[in-house]
Amino acid sequence: MNRRRLTRNRMGWASEQLSPLSELFIEYASRCCRDASSPALDLGAAYGAAALAALHAGCYVIANDLDAAHLAVLASRLDDTSRPRLSIRAGRFPREIAFDFASLGAVHASNVFHFLTGNQLDFGLRELARWLRPGAKLFVQAATPYQQPFAAFLPEYHRRLEAAMKWPGWITKLSAFSSHRQLSQMPRSIHLLDDNVLSAAARRAGFEIERVWLYRRPDLPAGLHLDGRESVGLIARRSHS
Ligand SMILES: C[S@@+](CC[C@H](N)C(=O)[O-])C[C@H]1O[C@@H](n2cnc3c(N)ncnc32)[C@H](O)[C@@H]1O
Repeated sequence: MNRRRLTRNRMGWASEQLSPLSELFIEYASRCCRDASSPALDLGAAYGAAALAALHAGCYVIANDLDAAHLAVLASRLDDTSRPRLSIRAGRFPREIAFDFASLGAVHASNVFHFLTGNQLDFGLRELARWLRPGAKLFVQAATPYQQPFAAFLPEYHRRLEAAMKWPGWITKLSAFSSHRQLSQMPRSIHLLDDNVLSAAARRAGFEIERVWLYRRPDLPAGLHLDGRESVGLIARRSHS
């Protein structure tokens, strides 16, 4: 199996190698999502590497993706012990899916938040805070501006940071900043996030930040390397109030 598989819808690559953030999600979910009443939601699950790992760890899992064909591949990879603990929920987060108040034991969103606009992120994080049980955790990994293909965007990014823009990493037309070969597999617009922007958004939605950090994920192709801050990870807890 390749470490990365191209998505069918120009939403980048799905990783078969779990990142440190996804490993922390699995470890948490294997303790907190072992009951049907407290499943883990994997947003943008694609072909299911993290969802399958959570199932193998004994969790109940809801796999979401906007492309139902990705989820069909995931379903074809299930073994008999995992199948009864997986639910599939196709649809575009946050508008096309919904869950009961306080019904989720954990949420994992790996490499999907950078496809959302600022408004979708604000609304989506508020929805996640409603759907999670009090005290339950959200695990996010997203792309930062500190990747080689976005190097030409960095001066503009720093100007926007100085101007205290709410969403400094939103790029309406990616091709205006980069013609990097890898970007042919990305959508026209992208929303690069960093530790401050992501944690501020999570706080506004009612999350308590447990950890937020920048890092290079092990499966990132060398052509995207810049300075070790290529990904942002966030672990946040739904407040008890
Ligand atoms: C780059 S892949 C990441 C897959 C996997 N989570 C990982 O970390 O390797 C992004 C996936 O998110 C899905 N996606 C993008 N925007 C989405 C949205 N708003 N709601 C649900 N899925 C979305 C895409 O279809 C694609 O399968």
